[in-house]
Amino acid sequence: MMDPQRRHHYLQAMGIVRWQRRGRAERPAEPDCPAPRADGASPVAPDDDIGVLDWEGLRERVLACTACDLYRTRTQAVFGVGNRNADWMIVGEAPGAEEDRRGEPFVGRAGQLLDSMLHAIGLDRQQVYIANVLKCRPPNNRDPRPEEVEQCEPYLRRQVALVRPRLILAVGRVAAQNLLKSNAPLSRLRGRRHSYGEEATPLVVTYHPAYLLRSPLEKRKAWQDLQLALEVAGR
Ligand code: URA
Repeated sequence: MMDPQRRHHYLQAMGIVRWQRRGRAERPAEPDCPAPRADGASPVAPDDDIGVLDWEGLRERVLACTACDLYRTRTQAVFGVGNRNADWMIVGEAPGAEEDRRGEPFVGRAGQLLDSMLHAIGLDRQQVYIANVLKCRPPNNRDPRPEEVEQCEPYLRRQVALVRPRLILAVGRVAAQNLLKSNAPLSRLRGRRHSYGEEATPLVVTYHPAYLLRSPLEKRKAWQDLQLALEVAGR
């Protein structure tokens, strides 16, 4: 149980003053190590067997991927991190500058807020699995292009199949629209339960923490989304 002062700190970071914690069974963490640099790895593009790769095969494939042009400007591909048996899978858009440098998703300022959001509902980073729609940073953090998403999609699909989460939390418009194959604005995608893929994994949409840093008044809605996610995950 987190001490109340720390929880208060996380809630404050989220802009939340009052909340009610729900009970949840916890599963042991199996932390993934940060991705090593891809320098020197032989270039490989996605192909049909991604759907049968195990964790290590998948990771190697991602780190060596040259399927779209983003490999030319990345420092390294950012595979994913966290508990490979997680109940919750968090899916963001693409690595930013800090993630590209460190080889781990959500480690910059937005990542710190994401950690606070998770803490506020009694989860920490080691308990969930975190990945992005794109594994490589788009230059200048521009939006992912459709062909980049298409090339990268089998990797995320395989990550979801391997984790088999009870819930996917899609953070931000780009993640939500791509996972749900929708052009609807985020305001229409949040606030209800969706499902992803052949397994119909329950999926809930919320704001991207980078957006919440710019628009702190929206944190209240993000809090509602997290409550919905808890409900959908059965916690
Ligand atoms: N934003 C994302 O969507 N993903 C990251 O990993 C970092 C920032």
